Amino acid sequence: MKLGGFDVDIQKDAVDGGSGVLRPSRICYLAMISTTFWALVFFLPSSTQGGDGIASVLFKPSTFSIPLFSSVATVPAGAPPASATVLPEAGKEDRSVTADDDRCAGRYIYMYDLPPRFNSDLLADCGKLDIWMDMCPYVANHGMGQALGDEAGAFSDRGWYATNQFMLDVIFHGRMKAYDCLTSDPARAAAAFVPFYASLDGGRYMWNSTSLRDALALEFLEWLTRRPAWRAAGGGRGHFFVAGRTAVDFTRKSGGNGWGTSLLRNPTVQNMTVLVLETVAWSRSNVAVPYPTYFHPEAAADVAAWQDRVQKAERKWLFSFAGAPRPGNSRTVRAQIIQQCGASGRCSLYRCGGAGAKANCYSPGGVMRLMESSTFCLEPRGDSLTRRSTFDAILAGCIPVFFHPGSAYTQYTLHLPKDPNKYSVLIMHTDITERNVSIEDTLSRISPETVKAMREEVIQLIPRVVYADPRSRRVDFKDAFDVAVEAVIDRVASRRRGASAGTEH
Ligand SMILES: *[C@@H]1O[C@H](CO)[C@@H](O)[C@H](O)[C@H]1NC(C)=O
Ligand SMILES: *[C@@H]1O[C@H](CO)[C@@H](O)[C@H](O)[C@H]1NC(C)=O
Ligand SMILES: *[C@@H]1O[C@H](CO)[C@@H](O)[C@H](O)[C@H]1NC(C)=O
Repeated sequence: MKLGGFDVDIQKDAVDGGSGVLRPSRICYLAMISTTFWALVFFLPSSTQGGDGIASVLFKPSTFSIPLFSSVATVPAGAPPASATVLPEAGKEDRSVTADDDRCAGRYIYMYDLPPRFNSDLLADCGKLDIWMDMCPYVANHGMGQALGDEAGAFSDRGWYATNQFMLDVIFHGRMKAYDCLTSDPARAAAAFVPFYASLDGGRYMWNSTSLRDALALEFLEWLTRRPAWRAAGGGRGHFFVAGRTAVDFTRKSGGNGWGTSLLRNPTVQNMTVLVLETVAWSRSNVAVPYPTYFHPEAAADVAAWQDRVQKAERKWLFSFAGAPRPGNSRTVRAQIIQQCGASGRCSLYRCGGAGAKANCYSPGGVMRLMESSTFCLEPRGDSLTRRSTFDAILAGCIPVFFHPGSAYTQYTLHLPKDPNKYSVLIMHTDITERNVSIEDTLSRISPETVKAMREEVIQLIPRVVYADPRSRRVDFKDAFDVAVEAVIDRVASRRRGASAGTEH
């Protein structure tokens, strides 16, 4: 079926029950082509989770209006630090003067102060963000969601929240408020960040008219390009924002009646950088960043305590799979995985959804506990190529097993190691579906030393793939946000150099 110019294999991958948090948009593919049965089985119960009355708690001024800039080094326009030694820098355009003791040199970010309709109004109207469920519990705590108690010993003491995978717009904005090198001068900034909640906006009208779906984003782009800061910060090339869903949700062909909004096809966006959870190959503006997980440490010590714990975890299962079967063809890789896992004494199947399902994919504790007690975690494609569960697995110190290179290797190039063999296993999906390759045999042939080295690598990745608590003012490690911002700054710098050298394509 074609949606927004993409062939979306609805029959195989309509619902990802495996992520522990639903992907509401895709439910609806299924509802369209299948029955409301699935929606009832998977999603209605979850929409009651989190309880009522949270919204009213959430929007107390103390939660959303704390003076976030109090401890941040906001540099007034044109005011270098008094003690700065100003050195001429030969051969560097854009930076005729640089203070050599300015720890922020080359790292300044200008963050727009947007009219509330482009961000905070969407939070205030959280009950309408999704037609299937109440998102209010998930927008709490700067997008981290409700704090989790220690469900059956799955978590460490600090930093665990019931985070929805589509809350990155909000989490990222919160992290940016705590960024230590914000500037109020767009001309001085290495890049300009626009805290438009593109995915919250896009997500809420997926089932309405195409004009309604696109309306706010168009208004936003028009507003943005009229600001003096737009030019001062280098136009599209100097700007970035987050659209925390898969890019396919924003790539409807203009004039088309397909899936999603057409945000990523807008000419103004072409030169910008858009951080998404999964890219489309043809767009040069989109860059993939990790899905948010349940862990939001405040400081390196929290990360270290967690790493220590997963290091020591007893992994009684060779491999495991958490997820829901998809209706239809039993020869899909997902159906085969469920079949193989169910038949193996060394695999734990956390089957959450479909007939006879016992597990609850909305229980973060249940999913995490499974992954913490497995050596390998199977990560077939979800609704799309990628899956939030991949990052839950890494967090649990469980070595991810992919069935398609597009599930991670071609996506998360900023955050994951270049050599995929260091931290993961690839079994091509066709080997499963066409050659009846045994997952258990394949995994049990990997030597214990290799397994140990891979697990070490996975555990070392944890700080880079988690988003620190946006409220923390003592984040002393490089998290997924920091990695992404550094990469955006490099990208903007190289595009500026390319443009001034006339080499930008
Ligand atoms: C969007 O569609 C939903 C579902 O059909 C409907 O309930 C809602 O009223 C629509 N929203 C607007 C603003 O038209
Ligand atoms: C994008 O960048 C190119 C190259 O610098 C420029 O020619 C073009 O006008 C820009 N497009 C927009 C919409 O700003
Ligand atoms: C696939 O392999 C399993 C285990 O080796 C075997 O039981 C099964 O019959 C095979 N299936 C097919 C279709 O060859």
